[in-house]
Amino acid sequence: MASLDQKLVLITGGAGLLGLEHGVAVATAGGIPILVDIDVEALAAARSKFAERMPNSQLETRVADICSRAALEELADEISTSLGDVDCLINNAAVNPTMDDGYSMISGALETYPIENWSREFEVGVTGALLMIQVFGAKMAGRGRGSIVNIASDLGVIAPDHRIYTPTRNMEDVTSFKPVSYSVGKHALIGLTKYVATYWGHVNVRCNALAPGGVFNGQNESLVDGLEDRIPLRRMAYHDEYHDAVIFLCSDASSYMTGQVLVMDGGRSVW
Ligand SMILES: NC(=O)c1ccc[n+]([C@@H]2O[C@H](COP(=O)([O-])OP(=O)(O)OC[C@H]3O[C@@H](n4cnc5c(N)ncnc54)[C@H](O)[C@@H]3O)[C@@H](O)[C@H]2O)c1
Repeated sequence: MASLDQKLVLITGGAGLLGLEHGVAVATAGGIPILVDIDVEALAAARSKFAERMPNSQLETRVADICSRAALEELADEISTSLGDVDCLINNAAVNPTMDDGYSMISGALETYPIENWSREFEVGVTGALLMIQVFGAKMAGRGRGSIVNIASDLGVIAPDHRIYTPTRNMEDVTSFKPVSYSVGKHALIGLTKYVATYWGHVNVRCNALAPGGVFNGQNESLVDGLEDRIPLRRMAYHDEYHDAVIFLCSDASSYMTGQVLVMDGGRSVW
């Protein structure tokens, strides 16, 4: 049985939709999740939701900007004093422009995609993950034990099919595109996963990526239909459907696995 008994698991972007789910998964397996997020209010809301779902489990939350090395070093010192050694790190934070909000409408097309958006998204999704690995992964390497899980995406192994963002399904009619930074950043995160796996394999620190497909969260019907057409299992993921994968990758159940990408996308990437 996969177990995370009393293991400290740091989860970046812990206040978001999947961050909370990773926290619930960790607690279900007996571990202690530490949700780290830059958004104070969202973190408080995540705390309440966690308490409702897991009333008997310990949860830790910390406010920090993962793009600041100084803030992360301070966080590492504080956690080490108050809680102990971090056993697992889940790099989950990202700027994830959903296709239902105004963000993508502004940023859409490749030709005019603002470089400041590209830079910010890379700063959080790729540089932030690297900084976390530098600070917390290095401590794991020093102790000769640890597991790092980078949350990529199906768009880390395939390119977006922009036709799902228009009801006509014609590329000529698409006005709102998944930003180029998202897919490229997720490919980069998978590259980082492989690099860290070979860099620290000899000191027993494993690093794998999870590539989830889209989670249904009330997106508009046309988008959902378009996505489901491209998914062999004919549906988006349920919000709690990655729990076992997270437990598997964090725990000794995956002790002989490193540098790999676990793709859970309803089969989307095999078409
Ligand atoms: N939701 C999906 O359908 C889906 C599908 C595939 C992959 N993913 C990936 O899963 C991860 C989580 O997705 P989500 O939907 O929960 O996203 P989300 O937007 O709900 O959560 C992201 C969290 O990251 C936090 N964050 C942003 N910048 C930060 C910073 N500098 N420091 C600390 N925290 C910061 C945000 O405050 C937010 O709470 C992302 O990496 C995303 O790309 C999500």
